Amino acid sequence: QLAPLPPMTPAFLKTLNSVCQQCYRDFAPDEVELGVREHILLDLESFVKRQFTGARLRLFGSSKNGFGFKQSDLDICMVLDGQETAEGLDCISIIESLARLLRKHPGLRNILPITTAKVPIVKFYHARTGLEGDISLYNTLALHNTRLLASYAAIDPRVKMLCYVTKVFAKLCDIGDASRGSLSSYGFTLMVLFYLQQRNPPVIPVLQEIYDQEEKPEVLVDGWNVYFYDDLDKLRWPRNVESVGALWLGLLQFYTETFDFREHVISIRQSAALTTFNKQWTSKYIVIEDPFDLNHNLGAGLSRRMTNFIMKAFINGRRVFGTAVKAYPPEYTSHMEFF
Ligand code: GTP
Ligand code: MG
Repeated sequence: QLAPLPPMTPAFLKTLNSVCQQCYRDFAPDEVELGVREHILLDLESFVKRQFTGARLRLFGSSKNGFGFKQSDLDICMVLDGQETAEGLDCISIIESLARLLRKHPGLRNILPITTAKVPIVKFYHARTGLEGDISLYNTLALHNTRLLASYAAIDPRVKMLCYVTKVFAKLCDIGDASRGSLSSYGFTLMVLFYLQQRNPPVIPVLQEIYDQEEKPEVLVDGWNVYFYDDLDKLRWPRNVESVGALWLGLLQFYTETFDFREHVISIRQSAALTTFNKQWTSKYIVIEDPFDLNHNLGAGLSRRMTNFIMKAFINGRRVFGTAVKAYPPEYTSHMEFF
């Protein structure tokens, strides 16, 4: 049981709001930075084509979903013209020969093929920009979930702001790095979107549940339905007018006071509650269902220790951001000092 929060003051909420907005302004990349990423992509594509004729490279992840940082990695997916899926391809040996090829690229360093992972990749470091990146093959579902996240980001500016605040919070609390046993950025983004759908009134709708026809259209990719409503101009739903600051505090309260992790799954594909029992995912406390690959639980890799550590970060966050203090001057806007 958590101690109740002291009464919130309008002045503190206002500060909180400007801190959240400032966080977005500080971290969102500008047009130039986005252009640099496209430029690297084109350069790599023409280089890769020397050996793999018909190769196409596509950016996904935070370079495209609307929640990227200046230093976010370059997530790249490679496909071959005339080859619809990875079926019949020896992905591991393609990744290995791609790595051999990339070692000859003058602008790249630290080429490292990783062929034991669920999705084989080759990692690289782009020396001039200091950006890291990886290339995977036929990571088609990731291209679609990137598009889904980008659509949610485009619906309302508060979506982007809140995702940035949450990602910064996760990095600062050391709970946002899947390669070190915590949760990926993608996992946190799904948590934010789910919360915004559950808010009353909701800030965003459930795009996978909206369709013009009688029945939900079926667009199958790797056996999963990747359909979602993307005619955003036509969307109509109840207006939520809360400030980003209020929504941020609301998020911390939602995941510490309201949401029942034992009972429910964090799932952005449907508005009806989904139970952990339903999914047979009762062995984990934090359960986040991928919106398309319904067998994929983003929380599957969390140890009990890490789960506690993440929950503690949320509990501390709720206390820090939910306790109005007078110490901050009204012009105070630097979010970093908050932590
Ligand atoms: P940052 O790189 O931290 O800015 O965020 P990101 O959204 O790019 O996350 P990350 O590089 O970890 O993942 C890249 C993309 O891979 C995600 O945006 C998803 O589109 C896709 N993806 C699909 N399943 C997973 C998963 O289980 N874990 C991760 N990390 N990514 C997944
Ligand atoms: Mg990334």
